[in-house]
Amino acid sequence: MSKPKNRVIADCEIIEQTEIAPHVFRSALVEPAIARVSRPGQFVNVRVCDCYDPLLRRPFSVHAVDPEKGTFSLLYDVVGRGTTLLMNKRVGDTVNIVGPLGSSFDVGRNRGAMHVLVAGGCGAAPIHFLSDWICREHGCDNVTVLVGAKTGTGLLCEREFVAHGVKVKVATEDGSFGYKGLVTQLLQKHLAERDLSVETRVYSCGPMPMMREVARISHEQSIYACQLSLERAMACGVGVCMGCVVRACPEHEAACDEWYYSRICTDGPVYNAMELSWE
Ligand SMILES: Cc1cc2nc3c(=O)[nH]c(=O)nc-3n(C[C@H](O)[C@H](O)[C@H](O)COP(=O)(O)OP(=O)(O)OC[C@H]3O[C@@H](n4cnc5c(N)ncnc54)[C@H](O)[C@@H]3O)c2cc1C
Ligand code: FES
Repeated sequence: MSKPKNRVIADCEIIEQTEIAPHVFRSALVEPAIARVSRPGQFVNVRVCDCYDPLLRRPFSVHAVDPEKGTFSLLYDVVGRGTTLLMNKRVGDTVNIVGPLGSSFDVGRNRGAMHVLVAGGCGAAPIHFLSDWICREHGCDNVTVLVGAKTGTGLLCEREFVAHGVKVKVATEDGSFGYKGLVTQLLQKHLAERDLSVETRVYSCGPMPMMREVARISHEQSIYACQLSLERAMACGVGVCMGCVVRACPEHEAACDEWYYSRICTDGPVYNAMELSWE
């Protein structure tokens, strides 16, 4: 995975604060450097208040960028104190941000490749940026986004993906919208209907069990490349505390007995699925 090193630390003004679904907010901020150099899959570390609780910054994937306007957006689920403080910020307030950080998705150079993007819940945040990026780099014709949620009200960014011009398929666990079942079942069905002799790239972000299944299906189908953005809880965010580790394999093999601990904050968050040890 590629890792550009152009990070900035800046007080960023909030210019939009919108609740796009129950407990899910989109914040747009001004920082031309972050808008210009961020790549899909990278994240920023946000100091959500000038206080000691929470003391640590909170990581969020870059959700969208507008390099011409010098703005970028975050999309987040309100799950605790940090995200509540961020949600309560007003337009015109500033937050201190470090970024962009971490590795990004590699979309390859083959303009004929097929791209399948799988988003679960707030995993739609980086997948949205990725969809826009692939459309700009390679065009939208070969891009399909699969969006999953428990219910129709939990589906995120479906309209935005349609606006990008990509094909969009939806799965809800309760069947209230689109395919009834898990988004990973929809992925299996989607891949079964495709000619997989064409270079196929699968990208995913969402809950860990979902991404584990995406990795399994991609391996089973001998997919050319499967990349996952891991959003595990972080502490220091700079590679010191080992609070964000996953087991990875030096040889990029699925069956691996010489695994080591890889730090998501500095080595990830985007990994080739074959690098990860799920045992
Ligand atoms: C690289 C990266 C990118 C991320 N991008 C996004 C994003 O784009 N949108 C988004 O909504 N979230 C994202 N997250 C998760 C986000 O950072 C956490 O939800 C946030 O830090 C929670 O802060 P809090 O203070 O509100 O919650 P806390 O009070 O810290 O925790 C509240 C609850 O949420 C759980 N929790 C905290 N962090 C995580 C996590 N990473 N995964 C699962 N459960 C967690 C805690 O165990 C606890 O139960 C990302 C995480 C990483 C590591
Ligand atoms: S959060 Fe401390 S090492 Fe990654």
